Amino acid sequence: MADLLEVRGLKTWFRQRSGWVKAVDDISFSVPAGKTVGLVGESGSGKTTVGRTLLKLIPATGGEAFFEGREILGMEERAFRPLRARMQMVFQDPFGSLNPRMRVREIIGEALEIHFPKTQNADRRERVAELLRQVGLKEEMMERYPHEFSGGQRQRIGIARALAVKPRFIVCDEPVSALDVSVQARIVNLLQDLQEELGLAYLFIAHDLAVVEHVSDHVLVMYRGKIVESASAEAIYQDPKHDYTKKLLAAAPGAI
Ligand SMILES: Nc1ncnc2c1ncn2[C@@H]1O[C@H](COP(=O)(O)OP(=O)(O)OP(=O)(O)O)[C@@H](O)[C@H]1O
Ligand SMILES: [Mg+2]
Repeated sequence: MADLLEVRGLKTWFRQRSGWVKAVDDISFSVPAGKTVGLVGESGSGKTTVGRTLLKLIPATGGEAFFEGREILGMEERAFRPLRARMQMVFQDPFGSLNPRMRVREIIGEALEIHFPKTQNADRRERVAELLRQVGLKEEMMERYPHEFSGGQRQRIGIARALAVKPRFIVCDEPVSALDVSVQARIVNLLQDLQEELGLAYLFIAHDLAVVEHVSDHVLVMYRGKIVESASAEAIYQDPKHDYTKKLLAAAPGAI
């Protein structure tokens, strides 16, 4: 079977006054259904740009991406809309990505409304309750606002919002980097449990190779817009080929 996501020769360049910033420059990789591909690299190496381009939040400069066998980068917005629900993103800063003036019920409900507009209010409420339970929160928390939660709880809300539309693929962009170390492992475990339960595929972005190695089946190492190493998590850890990967490993504080 073909992979869930197959990326070929992806380029995302930004035009600046001084010339082009080649944030993503001709990279190819694939993500099998239900698996985790880790994407690691230093700040500015292009990781977030890869995720944003694949979700069509910013335009690609070149290349192709096949999701469920269909090329999406050249797809018109209207044709892509039904697929958008199947490709979601979880962000590094859960506070910044949650509207502070909305109750959790509304934050998650909004996602449901956009993709399942015909749902009755009572059903929508029940679905929000179910999603909150699924991410380890209590259903009565749906009446609260984002500032009434801890960082870890807020990330759980961000995950519930992503799950609301029943995705098959989630770009997790540094989902634990902003959290206390003690909370990081719990969120990582939640993501792994959800993967097993729902058959999700992840592109798991981080600058910390230890976290990525822990969660990933396959690891991509990115450096200045290019993939400089692509190997199983085990091989990356035991036998890194590229000097940059070795440097990252040396800097890793140890597996979580
Ligand atoms: N909208 C934009 N316009 C111009 N340049 C951009 C834009 N977005 C990103 N860049 C540039 O592209 C490069 C890659 O940025 P990106 O955010 O993808 O890196 P990253 O690997 O996610 O870094 P970090 O670990 O800090 O999150 C950087 O040089 C950045 O300045
Ligand atoms: Mg980033």
